Amino acid sequence: MTTQETRTQTPDLLFPTGFAWGAATSAYQIEGAVSEDGRGRSIWDTFVRQPGRVLDGDDADVAVDHYHRYRADVRMMADLSLGAYRFSVSWPRVQPDGSGRINPRGLDFYRRLVDELLVRGIEPWVTLYHWDLPQPLEDAGGWPARDTAERFADYAAAVHDALGDRVRNWSTVNEPWCAAFLGYASGEHAPGRREPARAVQAAHHLLLAHGLATAAMRAQRPGSRIGGCVNLYAVSPQTSSAADLDAARRIDGLQNRFFLDALLRGEYPADVLEDLGEPGGFAREGDMEIISAPLDMLLINYYSRFTVSGVPGGAASAAAAPTDTGSPWVGSEHVSFAGAGLPVTAMGWEIDAGGLYEILLRLAREYPRVPLVVSENGAAFDDVADADGVVRDPGRRDYIEAHLRACHAAIRDGVPLEGYFAWSLMDNFEWAWGYGKRFGLVRVDYETQRRTPKESALWYAETIRRGGLIGPAE
Ligand code: FCB
Repeated sequence: MTTQETRTQTPDLLFPTGFAWGAATSAYQIEGAVSEDGRGRSIWDTFVRQPGRVLDGDDADVAVDHYHRYRADVRMMADLSLGAYRFSVSWPRVQPDGSGRINPRGLDFYRRLVDELLVRGIEPWVTLYHWDLPQPLEDAGGWPARDTAERFADYAAAVHDALGDRVRNWSTVNEPWCAAFLGYASGEHAPGRREPARAVQAAHHLLLAHGLATAAMRAQRPGSRIGGCVNLYAVSPQTSSAADLDAARRIDGLQNRFFLDALLRGEYPADVLEDLGEPGGFAREGDMEIISAPLDMLLINYYSRFTVSGVPGGAASAAAAPTDTGSPWVGSEHVSFAGAGLPVTAMGWEIDAGGLYEILLRLAREYPRVPLVVSENGAAFDDVADADGVVRDPGRRDYIEAHLRACHAAIRDGVPLEGYFAWSLMDNFEWAWGYGKRFGLVRVDYETQRRTPKESALWYAETIRRGGLIGPAE
């Protein structure tokens, strides 16, 4: 079949008009230029310099040089027919000390990026915090300190004030579970602390930051669409034993319900507070109302399913860090991540598109009336490039297709799902794994910074042009 025929072929699974077809990145993972135009330092700049924190000692000083190459990158997005692009704003680029003075040159970069996207007909989706906390705020206590949430609201208001006339879709904090529990309990991510009780405070303050920022932005411009962003997993017990059922309750509790109940019901689940050893709770009067102010949408990042056991000493977590860390599962450290024996990506994450369908249906049933967006979904594989940089990556293509099928089935079954963003637009700095894991639709040669769309990217572009998938539902 020629490309032309493929393009005009009517899809069997058509997505609704207005569905956002996108790809996602984050500032620290792609921008580089860490010392340019007045950018301050973030906790990740500090963390990558500490021996043993990141695989092979990689850092993101240059990353994929997006700060200088953004024009060509946006052109590439247009060539791939993307309708939407989700990126994050670097807090230390905009506000070098994390409080007070705003750096106009930092804001200018995002103004130029947004303008470039709009000229090419790509809808910008801005995330305000994707883990790059200004170092001075960490020095003052970091996310376990309540003041950090207040500082975030000021920063969010400054960015929203500058870009709100051109950007409609906003999200506050990306994956508060990771920022809190990988950052402050396991220490796998910056700032690398292993203080479980502090991690719980961090989680609360990240949610409070979301709520305070939402209120500040709404006061500025009621027309903006604002969402929270959570990473959710399907969770199953390994067996039906009482210990495994309890393990599944705990992991679902801390990973999913803790954040969903706070954002969408205004309370923390009582059983999770018990697990955390905080039966009385820790929120101050009024916090939960701030956190649960109505959302315009909920952004969901989905990668995998956890199959867990309550029997200690079972298999280690498939998502374990590349370097020595503690457990992120505060209060449930005994739980083991056994897996279900499904095929895995290069991260060791089991591939389970059915889990995405399950989560979307659950959200629509248990937390109704909030529009949903899949804001990250994708897979790392050990790509092999030919001499021209071309990558044949059927594994990534199959992964994305299976998850898009799950999205389509959910929409068919009544879920208000409004968009899908592949993670990631291009290969980039994968946190503690450095450049060792490639999630991109587009290959980046890290020596030359040359970008080459992989086969999965070309397939995704055709799918977008067609507005849906070829091949009937199962
Ligand atoms: C998510 C992060 C994103 C990327 C993917 C693989 O948890 O939000 O930055 O690391 O995982």
